[in-house]
Amino acid sequence: MSIKENPSDIQIEQIPYYLSWQIRKIVFDPNPIDYKIDDDENGVHFGLYIGKNLIGVVSWFIEKDGAEFKKLGILNEFQGKGFGKMLLTHCIDYFKSQGIKTFRCESNKNSIGFYENLGFKKTNPTEAFHCYACIAMELSIKV
Ligand SMILES: CC(C)(COP(=O)(O)OP(=O)(O)OC[C@H]1O[C@@H](n2cnc3c(N)ncnc32)[C@H](O)[C@@H]1OP(=O)(O)O)[C@@H](O)C(=O)NCCC(=O)NCCS
Repeated sequence: MSIKENPSDIQIEQIPYYLSWQIRKIVFDPNPIDYKIDDDENGVHFGLYIGKNLIGVVSWFIEKDGAEFKKLGILNEFQGKGFGKMLLTHCIDYFKSQGIKTFRCESNKNSIGFYENLGFKKTNPTEAFHCYACIAMELSIKV
């Protein structure tokens, strides 16, 4: 795939859950057990577009005391260029504007540094409930 990266071409918007599947299938696994989330229909899904091309997604689930995101994924060829941080920061700013102050995720071992870079900390205990061999992480916004 060849996509010219031009900052004015980059857009982040809410997308229907089934569009997130097209990225999850590539970044995670083409097996529906892996690319679908049981609760997808109740999530809030964001996509990052370069021009008309969807290159990254993340899915949010609102809880009583915060919001959890799952399946943050950027297509391989666009990783390491700031798009993951841009997408996540955009969502956190959006949910902050809705009054949400606590953001959670379950990180795989490779992504812990990415989340720490954004201010997330490992929770204590670090046990993750939805993701095998993952570490629970949290970002709390102080008022
Ligand atoms: C994890 C992922 C979403 C990160 O997105 P990305 O676009 O590659 O990351 P970015 O380029 O936005 O990185 C932002 C910052 O985090 C740092 N960073 C990225 N990955 C890192 C890592 N694994 N460890 C430490 N720091 C990392 C970058 O150096 C950058 O630092 P800077 O802002 O100081 O320059 C992406 O690599 C991905 O989709 N991976 C495969 C799917 C996956 O594992 N998802 C996470 C599920 S828990």
